[in-house]
Amino acid sequence: MTLWGGRFGDDPDASVWAFTASPTDRRLLAVDVAGSIAHATALGSAGILPPDEVGEILAGLDSIVTEVQSGEFDFNETDEDVHTAVERRLGELIGPVAGKLHTGRSRNDQIALDIRLYLLESVARLEAGITGFAGVLVDVAERVGEMIVPSYTHLQQAQAVPFAHHLLAHAWTVLRDLQRFGDLRTRLAVSPLGASAGGGSRLPLQPAAAAAELGLQAVFVNSLDAVSSRDQATEYAWCCTQTFVDLSRLAEEIVLWSSSEFGWITLADRHSTGSSALPHKKNPDPAELTRGKAASAVGRLAALLSMMKGLPLSYNRDMQEDKEHLFSLGDDLEGALGAMSALVEGAEFHPMAPAGNVTALDLAEVLVERGVPFREAHEAVGRLVAARHGQGATLLGVDLDDLTAVHDAFQAGDESLTDPVESVRARRSPGGGSFESTNEQIAHLREELRGRP
Ligand code: ARG
Repeated sequence: MTLWGGRFGDDPDASVWAFTASPTDRRLLAVDVAGSIAHATALGSAGILPPDEVGEILAGLDSIVTEVQSGEFDFNETDEDVHTAVERRLGELIGPVAGKLHTGRSRNDQIALDIRLYLLESVARLEAGITGFAGVLVDVAERVGEMIVPSYTHLQQAQAVPFAHHLLAHAWTVLRDLQRFGDLRTRLAVSPLGASAGGGSRLPLQPAAAAAELGLQAVFVNSLDAVSSRDQATEYAWCCTQTFVDLSRLAEEIVLWSSSEFGWITLADRHSTGSSALPHKKNPDPAELTRGKAASAVGRLAALLSMMKGLPLSYNRDMQEDKEHLFSLGDDLEGALGAMSALVEGAEFHPMAPAGNVTALDLAEVLVERGVPFREAHEAVGRLVAARHGQGATLLGVDLDDLTAVHDAFQAGDESLTDPVESVRARRSPGGGSFESTNEQIAHLREELRGRP
């Protein structure tokens, strides 16, 4: 069935029908019916349809809601899209008055509304997923206590830091992802219903009444913008993709950490997979697939942006292609958040101690405290590192003679600065990798996450 037979002499060609019909949008069924209920109610309050007809339409839509909830709603292969399926079913239930539901409405404002309602629900689930994942990171940061690891730049060991500091860096990152979804919510919660085909209507539609029915806070101001814009959808795609990229960076670290070479982490058996060929293998597949699906997310975001960039106002059928990308982005991200939360929560952490040169900056900074210019201190400690390297050693185990050989401002007792644990204990710059800082961060993050979904 189509909603547009009148001006056509022929039925659609089978190949064109197969190419243009949109079974993908069946996931919008529940929100599409909710939009129709709001629209019919608003037609009634505007006096465009009489109360008895509105009553019949609403009763029919209520029956459809029941069918949707019980999984009994049947689509026909001949339904062009979800909107057509609902109108067809309404006609079967209540007869010709069903033909009045589409008064003052177009599938252009209808689909724009459906996407917004669907994405609002998806955002709520993703926010819960991110909140849960951030909570796991904070729990694990607390659990690892005073374990110390090297921080890295260029994947070379840099400074000693609490392992909690590293884990919490990821928690702060995903907290920003969470905040971005929250910001997006205000732009999604704007009703386009009442924009009609794009130019409005000669009927006295009441878009604000329909929006209020739906619990949306705002209404479109420009009807062309209402049916044309998909920036809320691409923003959702970006929020998902950015979150995926952030998860993927931790996933990459987990893959590294679980290697024999690093040996920092043991994944629970239930969160790992085996090899069909190599009996000893235990693979970090959930982390690898998070990394892999992040690539798909980047591709889907690029596809959505590319789809939109050449479209004249207002609605264009190209926009139908957004569904597949939006649905997959949400599904994949929900899946990744669940799997990564389980993986991190169930893992055992036993990171290796930092190598012996991670305290080089401490040695330079103690000279700075004694008035030596940083550049000169850097040079002196660099020479010491080179000399030790020549002896097959690191800064661990240097004695006072080694120190004073490169700079006379070194004093007895400075040897202890080469202990990575001492390095962390002496760190005092705000937000730096110290135990005081990680304790504060844990409390701060718990506060940020409290009361969220
Ligand atoms: N299925 C379309 C979409 O997803 C909505 C229908 C609008 N079609 C139309 N011919 N105006 O974008």
